[in-house]
Formats: sequence, C-alpha cells, structure tokens
Amino acid sequence: MHIAVIGAGYVGLTVGVCLAESGLSVSLIELDEDRVWVLERGELPFYESGLTDLYVRNFQAGHIGCTTSYSRGLDGVTAAFLAVGTPPLADGSADLSRARAAITEIAKYAPEHLVLVIKSTVPVGTAAEMRQLLDKAARGDIEVVSNPEFLRQGQAVEDFLHPDRVVIGADSGEAARLVKQLYQRFLDADVPVLVMDNASAEMAKYASNAFLAARVSYVNEIANICDHIGVSVDDVVKAMGADHRIGSQYLQPGCGYGGSCLAKDLQALMATARAGGYAATLLDAVAQTNEDQKRLLCRKIHQHFEGVLEGRTIAIWGLAFKEKTDDVRESPAIALIDYLIGQHAHVQVFDPVALSQVVDVLDDRITECSDEYQAVDDADALVVMTPWPEFRQPDWDRVKSLLRVPVVFDGRNLYDPAELVGMGFTYVGFGRPQVTRLPSGSLYGPHTQMVANK
Ligand SMILES: NC(=O)c1ccc[n+]([C@@H]2O[C@H](COP(=O)([O-])OP(=O)(O)OC[C@H]3O[C@@H](n4cnc5c(N)ncnc54)[C@H](O)[C@@H]3O)[C@@H](O)[C@H]2O)c1
Repeated sequence: MHIAVIGAGYVGLTVGVCLAESGLSVSLIELDEDRVWVLERGELPFYESGLTDLYVRNFQAGHIGCTTSYSRGLDGVTAAFLAVGTPPLADGSADLSRARAAITEIAKYAPEHLVLVIKSTVPVGTAAEMRQLLDKAARGDIEVVSNPEFLRQGQAVEDFLHPDRVVIGADSGEAARLVKQLYQRFLDADVPVLVMDNASAEMAKYASNAFLAARVSYVNEIANICDHIGVSVDDVVKAMGADHRIGSQYLQPGCGYGGSCLAKDLQALMATARAGGYAATLLDAVAQTNEDQKRLLCRKIHQHFEGVLEGRTIAIWGLAFKEKTDDVRESPAIALIDYLIGQHAHVQVFDPVALSQVVDVLDDRITECSDEYQAVDDADALVVMTPWPEFRQPDWDRVKSLLRVPVVFDGRNLYDPAELVGMGFTYVGFGRPQVTRLPSGSLYGPHTQMVANK
C-alpha cells in the first residue's frame, strides 16, 4: 500500500519512516526545499535518536522518498497523514494556516477515496472544519480521521512503534478500520486502539499534554515549598512516585518544561476553554508556574553573583529542551542564555547535538564548545540544563580544576548534592536539602543552598 505523509518534521518523519519500516511505500510531502534536499541525499535534517538508521535503510531500499510536489506525493496513495506544525498565535490558539494550506492542495491532487489522517495536534472542531473545506472543494470522497500523536522527542521511534494506546477519531467506521489496519502491521496485540468521534480524539491529545505539564508544575511547586521549609524534595518525590495511582514519570523538579508541545498545547487548550466561555484557572496556574520556574533559575544565579553578572563567564551544559533531541523550541536553556546575555555575562555552551540549532541566538558573548570540559574552562559557574546521559557522571575532579570557582547550578536535579558538596562544590538545585544556612531573607529561604564547608 502506498501512503503519503505531509510535513517531514519530528512527527511526520518519524511516522513516515516507521510506516515504511512496516512495509508501506511512503511519500513525504515537505514544502521546505532545503529539508527535501537533505532528505534526498539520504540524511536527516535534524537529530532524533534511532531515526537516522531506519531512514537510511528505507530510503536506500526505495521504501520512502520526499518531494515538494503534492501532485507527485499524492499520486496513487490510499491514505495521507497530515503532520504539519500548529504553532501558537499571539492569543495562544493554534495557528492552523499550514493545515488549511495543505487541505487546499490535497483537495486539488488527492486520488479518489483518500483517507486523510490528521496527526498534527489540532483544536477541537478542526476535523469538522477540514471536512467543510473539502466539501466546498467538492471532495466528499475524502474521509477525515483524527489520529493524534503522543510520541516524545528523543524516543520518538520507540514511542511510535510501541505506543500506550492509539486514538482514532472518525465519523466513518470504514476510515477508522483502515487506520487501525495500518497500525496493526506493527502494533503489539495488547495495545488498546480507542475509536471515538473526531472531537473527543482532538480533545484527548490536549487533555493529555496539559496533564503532563500540570505534573511538572506541581512537582516544581512542591520543590519550591521544600526549598522554603528545608525539606529534601528527593525523598518526597520518591514516596509520591511509588504510589501506582501517581507514578514517577514527569515528576522531576527542575527549571521547567520546554519543547514545542507542552507549553503550546496548554495555551491552545486555554484558548479553546475561553472560546467555550470557561475560565480554565488551573491551566493558567500550570503555565504561570512554569514561567516562574524558568525565571527562578535565573534568580538563583543572579543572587549567587550578588546581582552582578557583567564580566562573569557562565558554562551551560545542554541547549535542547530534553536529552536525545536537538530541538531547542521553548527550551529553558534558551531563556537562560537570553537572561545571561541581557546581564552582560559571557556564556560558554556545549550540547552534544543541538549547537547547530541556535546559530541565530549566538552572539559574541556566547562561545560554542566542542565538549563539556571546554565549556567549563575558566568559567565562574556551571549550569546544567539538559539531562543528557553524558552529563550525569562527569569527571568532577576535572570540572573542578577547570572552573574558576567550583559552583554548580543543577537545572535538572541530576546530581547528589552531598557528593558535590563533599568534593568542594557549591551546589544549587531545586528543593534539595541544606548543608549551610544562608542568611535569612535569601531567595532560597534560610535552608536551601548547599555550600561547601570551608
Ligand atoms: N514534536 C513532538 O514531539 C510532537 C509530538 C506529538 C504531536 N506533535 C504535533 O505534531 C505536529 C508537527 O510537529 P513537529 O514537531 O513535527 O513540527 P515540525 O515543525 O518539526 O515539522 C513540521 C513540518 O511541516 C512542514 N510544513 C509546513 N507546512 C506545510 C505544508 N503546507 N505542506 C507540507 N509541509 C509543510 C514544515 O516545513 C516542517 O518541516 C504539531 O501539530 C505538533 O503539535 C508534535
């Protein structure tokens, strides 16, 4: 069977490559000519763990190809997956212009009886709107199915091939059956396939992402309370996560969530709620807590340097919003760099794969480094922003010998504070226990910065 995937981004490329691997013939339709050029050379335009090998194998075998042309890409296909971006508009609602533009082309070039599968995260009512657009273009033969994607960047291939569930929203049983069949080529038998109406499927995606964002903001709120009352959040989180009703995922205190999905989808859900006449105050607080959390790290650094960052050199490990991806969209590291540059600090950065993504934010106060040790060389502090595996167990003796002053701001609570303090570092994390009390009135409360006993 021949299918098309429209939009060769993190989602579209993963979907296309995995479906090609399952034996389908896949045409990627992508408007960005540079992206198509890279893909046609058998390379990927971005880093996603495990995707390159799969792509290269299927590309070389002729199972997947890429084009900018809708007429060529849709030729002879049975289904087309729509995976274009849906970034936020100024009011937080989802910008559907890319999806609408794609529908115009699909209406022109799709073969008869196409099943259009909406993979992009789109607000409730989008499938109905697409249906109307297609009807207006006299394409009543195209079925619209909502099939939101739940994969996580950094483990996209694993998540797509082994999902917790597949959600299919459809008005027609036949269209839903076709999409189910496509998944059943690789799905484990026990994975639930939940068929529902389009609006419920659309809402399920937003409700899930808003819930994950809420977990992160909730645990950060708990960490901040711990910071103020001198309790270790680590044991608190362990105790919470061991409860099966709660679980341990998305329960790691730190500098806030980033990425292209959680913040965007939360805003879009709030816009949907507003449009429906409901003030979603809990969601509002989740978003605000995350913004505050990003700023909290800046304030901790600001306070450590007594408000003067000019002339300081700050080392940053990690730019991507999470490990195993090069995606820097909404990354707390970018917010931190903006802050440090605004304070006239010099920044030395290392990320295993994401440096190439930030060329436009780099200026002469930022030095790109070739590894984590070059980044800390002659710096006044280290800030760890992305939990890459290689950052988890560095050679601390080497780090200490390279830093001007042994100070670590642990943006992801990766390290054992006692161990670092034992080695002579000043350690600042989120909700970590105290060794030495700071003067009262400090930002962290009386208890929460660990300072090496000197
Ligand atoms: N990134 C994630 O982890 C993730 C997870 C689940 C769902 N989603 C959702 O999936 C969608 C895509 O996300 P992404 O991260 O892959 O976005 P992306 O920006 O990485 O990729 C989108 C691609 O679509 C292309 N494009 C835009 N308009 C087009 C058009 N009219 N025709 C053909 N190509 C077009 C762009 O050039 C780009 O390459 C979004 O709605 C997002 O919310 C993302």
